[in-house]
Amino acid sequence: MAEYQTHEHDVLVIGAGGAGLRAAIEASAAGVSVGLICKSLLGKAHTVMAEGGVAAALANVDERDGWQVHFADTMRGGQYVNNWRMAELHAKEAPGGVHELEAWGALFDRTSDGRILQRHFGGHKYPRLAHVGDRTGLEMIRTLQDHAIHRGITVYMEHTILTLLEDGERVVGAFGYDSERGFFHLFHARAVVLTTGGIGRAYKITSNSWEYTGDGQALAYHAGAELVDMEFVQFHPTGMVWPPSVCGILVTEGVRGEGGVLRNKEGRRFMFDDIPELYRQQTADSEEEGWRYTQGDRDARRPPELLTRDHVARCIVREIKAGRGSPHGGVYLDISWIKGKLPSAAERIKKKLPSMYHQFKQLADIDITAEPMEVGPTTHYMMGGVRVDAESQMSTTPGLFAAGECAAGLHGANRLGGNSLSDLLVFGKRAGAYAARFATAHGFGQVRTDQVETAARRALAAFDGDGRPGGAESPYRVQHDLQELMQNRVGIVRREDEMVHARDGIARLRERATRVRVEGNRQYNAGWHTALVLDNLLTVSEAITCAALERRESRGAHFREDHPGKDASAGAFNLVVRKGPDDEMQVRRQPIPEMRPDLKRIVEEMK
Ligand code: FUM
Repeated sequence: MAEYQTHEHDVLVIGAGGAGLRAAIEASAAGVSVGLICKSLLGKAHTVMAEGGVAAALANVDERDGWQVHFADTMRGGQYVNNWRMAELHAKEAPGGVHELEAWGALFDRTSDGRILQRHFGGHKYPRLAHVGDRTGLEMIRTLQDHAIHRGITVYMEHTILTLLEDGERVVGAFGYDSERGFFHLFHARAVVLTTGGIGRAYKITSNSWEYTGDGQALAYHAGAELVDMEFVQFHPTGMVWPPSVCGILVTEGVRGEGGVLRNKEGRRFMFDDIPELYRQQTADSEEEGWRYTQGDRDARRPPELLTRDHVARCIVREIKAGRGSPHGGVYLDISWIKGKLPSAAERIKKKLPSMYHQFKQLADIDITAEPMEVGPTTHYMMGGVRVDAESQMSTTPGLFAAGECAAGLHGANRLGGNSLSDLLVFGKRAGAYAARFATAHGFGQVRTDQVETAARRALAAFDGDGRPGGAESPYRVQHDLQELMQNRVGIVRREDEMVHARDGIARLRERATRVRVEGNRQYNAGWHTALVLDNLLTVSEAITCAALERRESRGAHFREDHPGKDASAGAFNLVVRKGPDDEMQVRRQPIPEMRPDLKRIVEEMK
C-alpha cells in the first residue's frame, strides 16, 4: 500500500501563476477553503514573461478605445476561430480586472495627468497595454501573491500533481508528490481548478522555464475532459538567440511598441516586404509614419513590426532561411536607432525597458541603447488547452475547471500580446467563483484506492531495476529527443510528411519512456521529476501534432506550407481532442456556433 498524507479543501487550485492566484483569491472570497498547488516556489511563474503589459480598453491614452474595439481586435487576431463569448466577456471585464489589481496595490506607469499609462502592442488598434515598464507580469504576480497570502489560502510549494482523482464522471481531487522529500500527497476536493500554464518545454527553443510541461492539459485529457485548438502554438517573434545558454529567453514586444525595428543583415526593414491583406489598411507604408505611430500620432498607421505575432515570426523565419539573418541565426531588433530621433533616447530606453537593458547587458554584453539585439522566434504560449464553458470555465468533466493558458477558447488561432494577462484576470476570477459555487453545491466525492495505488506504483516504476527489455533509457534523453522532434517537425512552418514523421516519432518516444530508469532516492531527484512529466509532454505533443495534421489550411499560428491558404469550404471549426475508449487519441471537427448578431455587427463595423 502506498503511503501518503491526505489534505482536504473545498477548492483545489493546481498552478500558482496569475490565473491560479486569481482563482484562489476569488474562491476564498466566496467563503470556501482553498488549497493552492505550486510546482516550484510561489511567485515563480510564466506570468512574469508577459512583460510589456496587460491589455484592457481603459481608453486612457486614446478615448476612441472601448470593449467593442478590443473584442474585434481579439477576434481578428485569432482569425475568427475564437470562442466569441469568451472574447466578449474578456473585453468587457478586463478593465475591471486591472482596476481591481490597482486597488490591491499594483503600481502601473502613469500618464502625465495621473491615469494608468497604456502602450502600443501588435494587433491592438489603440494603445491598450497598461504596464509597469517591462515588468508588468512580475508586478501582477507580486500583487496577487500578496493578496492571496493575506486571505489565508493554504499554499503547497514544490508539489507536483500526477493524476486527477475521479468518482464516476466527476473529478474529486488530485494525487501528487512534493519534490523536497519525494512524499506522496492526496488532495481531496469538491472542485478542482487547473491553472498550470503552457507546454513550452515540449520544444527546444522556448521562453518557458522547466515547469511548463503541459501538466494541466494532460491531466484533464486523462480525466476524460476535452482539449481544443491544440494545433495553435504561439511562437513569439523575439527571443534571445545568443549566447546559447540563454537562447529562447523573451525579448518583450514592448521593445517594438517603443519604436524598435527589425532588420536583416543587409540593414533592410524586411517587415515592409509582406503585409497581409487583413491588415493592409492599418499598416504604415513608410518608416516615418511607423515612427510617428509609436510616438502617439493618432493619424499615423502602425509600423509592420507591430503586426500580429504569427506573421512577424514567419517573416523572421523567411529572412533566416533566405540567408539574410544575423550571425547566430536570428535577425536584428534595433531600438538604439531612435537616438537620431530623440535627444534623450538612451535614458528613455532604460526607463521604458529596464529589464531588457539589463538582460542584454548582463547576458550578452550588448548595450541596447547603442547597438541592435539579435533575436529569433521562441515558443511562448499555447492557445489550445482544456475546453471550457465561457461563463463558468468548467471543463467537459464535472467538478474540473481550467483558466489561463491551460484553458482554451479566448485566443483562437493566435493570441494578441497582453491578452494573456487580462485573460488570467478575467477567467481566473470566473473559474474561482464558479468552482466555489460548485463546491458549495456538492459534497466530497469518493476517492478510489485502486486509482491512488496505480498512480503511486507508476510513479515509482522509474526506480525499478535495470533489467528492462530493450535496455534502460535516460529521461533527459527522451525529453531532449522530443524537443528536437517538435522543434524541427511541428514548428512555425509545417508540412504533412514532417508531421507524420513526428507522430511516428512520438509513438517511439512513448515506448522509450516506458523504459526510463533513474538513480538515487526520492529527495530532490531531478531525474525522477523529469521521468514523471514525460507522459504529459508526450500527450500534449501528440495532441498538437494530430490536430495540426487534421487542420489542412493555414490560420494564425498554424502555418501549413502544403496548404498555405484558408480552407473556406470547410467553414470555421475548432478541433477537439479527447481520449477514446481504447486510450487512443481522437480528433474531431466542431463547427463554431454562429456569432450573436450584435457582436457580428461590431466585427463588421471594425473591419
Ligand atoms: O512581449 C511580451 O511582453 C509578452 C507579452 C505577452 O505574451 O502577452
